[in-house]
Amino acid sequence: MAEVTSRGIGPIVLMGPPGAGKGTQAKRIAEHYGIPQVSTGDLLREHVSKSTPLGLQARDIMARGELVPDELLYGMVAQRLREADCQRGFILDGFPRTPAQAGWLDGFLKREFFDNSKPDKCLPIVVQIDVDYNELLSRLTGRRTCPACGRIYNVHLQPPRVDELCDVDGSKLVTRNDDREEVIRERLLAYEKLTRPVVDHYGGQDRVISVDGGLPVDQVSEQIFREIQIHGC
Ligand code: AP5
Repeated sequence: MAEVTSRGIGPIVLMGPPGAGKGTQAKRIAEHYGIPQVSTGDLLREHVSKSTPLGLQARDIMARGELVPDELLYGMVAQRLREADCQRGFILDGFPRTPAQAGWLDGFLKREFFDNSKPDKCLPIVVQIDVDYNELLSRLTGRRTCPACGRIYNVHLQPPRVDELCDVDGSKLVTRNDDREEVIRERLLAYEKLTRPVVDHYGGQDRVISVDGGLPVDQVSEQIFREIQIHGC
């Protein structure tokens, strides 16, 4: 571990439909490589909970399961990626989600991340996690999250040791506002229509790794770590 954490790993982009396990895997990769998880969903939910101007604009859109307009996100993402902890690399979870966002990210990385062309700054590795549609529905309806530490559970597949309480800090687990069946369907539709084309954007750059997200969590992580070792710098 000391070996991998002593050098830059570069940006890792996690792609996949709602419920594919992006958040679950992002936390594991973050811990393994000592780089932060940057989740646009989490950042937006924080804005909503604090009723910031961005949160007030995003709240109803997110509750309907639609994508927040691209231009509302760029300032929020840029601000987070400029923070010191992102300089060695970061894991983007849920961004980019449209081809326009992918183009914006390319420009941002070129201008601000690779600008000094330090040898330890690597091209993004794009990890595409695929999972069967019915499995996604069952994962999302069963998801529970710890409001304090962010740990993700599933009442069917990954239950906490004590019903409805976080294993780590004992907080009462919560259900996300958009994990209702009618909203989940909208989110999956938005993914197919607007986000799947982003894979084509990266496909041309030969940076996309596909993993089978239908396997148990540990096995998905093993696939991801193996591929990162091969494709990382
Ligand atoms: P966001 O928070 O990004 O949600 P999402 O993409 O819909 O993804 P999820 O968080 O639902 O799923 P996940 O893949 O992280 O799965 P998880 O690990 O939790 O976005 C929410 C909203 O914000 C969007 O709808 C949009 O409105 C807005 N937004 C965010 N980013 C945006 C952007 N860039 N542009 C525009 N709008 C944006 O796992 C799910 C469940 O499965 C859990 O219960 C977990 O325990 C379980 N599980 C995970 N892996 C496994 C496994 N291998 N086996 C069994 N169970 C598993």
